[in-house]
Amino acid sequence: MKLRTTLPVAALLALIGTSFSAQAYDADWKRGRVYYRSVCTSCHTASPVGSINPSTKTKAEWGTYLLLDKHAKGKDTVSKYVSKSYRASIKATNKAAEKFADTPDAELLDDIKAFLIKGAKDGDSPATCS
Ligand code: HEC
Repeated sequence: MKLRTTLPVAALLALIGTSFSAQAYDADWKRGRVYYRSVCTSCHTASPVGSINPSTKTKAEWGTYLLLDKHAKGKDTVSKYVSKSYRASIKATNKAAEKFADTPDAELLDDIKAFLIKGAKDGDSPATCS
């Protein structure tokens, strides 16, 4: 009988769906802001590029930018500067990198994304770097 096989599958799918949403990480934009300002911006202001305000891009532009993960015109990646290994390499001189030394890369990236989207040109509160 068909019903006997389809029902458990549907139940299983529903279960997978709920467990995924239960596990979804709740991004902390404040932590993202601290990291962006302390790590990303401190390098930008020290390089010729200068500070890059979140409000210079729209939410969609930031979404695409982070998804493509091509930083500095494709010379390296954004995820590199979010990684644990990068944090470890600068933590002696950077307080935020030291404070978030053990934060999983994916969580920190989500936090930064939440801050950039919130601070985007069309975000909830367009933000500058300082
Ligand atoms: C070690 C220095 C350094 C760090 C750390 C750094 N950046 Fe950059 N970033 C640069 C430089 C240099 C450029 C400009 C590259 C160019 O124009 O050729 C740049 C450019 C950018 C741009 C402009 C678009 C592009 O990619 O060219 C964005 C957006 C950006 N960075 C985001 C970030 C974010 C987000 C972080 C932190 C997770 C970060 N950067 C960390 C050096 C850095």
